[in-house]
Amino acid sequence: MSNVKNSIVAPSLLGADFANLQKEVELCNNSKAEWLHLDIMDQQFVPNLSFGPGLVKSLRHHSNLFFDVHLMVSNPFDMLIPFINAGADGISFHIEATESRFTFPPKILINMIKKNNLKCGLALKPKTPFSILKKYLEFIDYIVVMSVEPGFGGQSFIPSTIEKISEINEYLIDQKIRDKIMIQVDGGIKLENYKDVISAGGDILVAGSQVFQSQNPVETINKMQAS
Ligand code: DX5
Ligand code: ZN
Repeated sequence: MSNVKNSIVAPSLLGADFANLQKEVELCNNSKAEWLHLDIMDQQFVPNLSFGPGLVKSLRHHSNLFFDVHLMVSNPFDMLIPFINAGADGISFHIEATESRFTFPPKILINMIKKNNLKCGLALKPKTPFSILKKYLEFIDYIVVMSVEPGFGGQSFIPSTIEKISEINEYLIDQKIRDKIMIQVDGGIKLENYKDVISAGGDILVAGSQVFQSQNPVETINKMQAS
């Protein structure tokens, strides 16, 4: 168990008021958050649309937070350069989106991200086993463990995710690479369950609705960041 360490809170902009994004980002700047999570959806890989590189580029002028782009798209390769140019600091893509013979293999995407000096994450849907990622671990910086089905904010945390986080944490410790890879947990993180996520091994807590729908988002972020 790795509960003696600091977690990083990554507010997810998907939960913010889209009519006031500059204000919402500034609020995150003024909190203890270190990352800002940016969900990109193409209505193919997931049944929803969010926003694109133009919006990320505009927000880049208003924040020095680590811009963490989470690509939930069926052709992540085509989205890399636009988001790198928009000012992303890290990009994660779904391993499930690279399984078809029409898409580039993960290693090509990882190389493109790393060559541009960004951090690279590999994301797993709730039903995708961790074992599928093992052969890429030496090349990546973080694993995104989805704790809801990707596509929408405001869903409930899937309880079995805790076991999955523990499994990953133990494997990384076993392989002596725990200090090289962070575990990001994305979806359904609330004030009631974030401590369990940290205790299981979560390093980066992505929280959308809990942060932006709370009375005092800064206080909510800072509470999660404090542990
Ligand atoms: C879901 C997204 C999440 C989402 C989390 O597909 O990847 O980042 O914004 O939102 P909450 O915290 O509301 O579950
Ligand atoms: Zn996300």
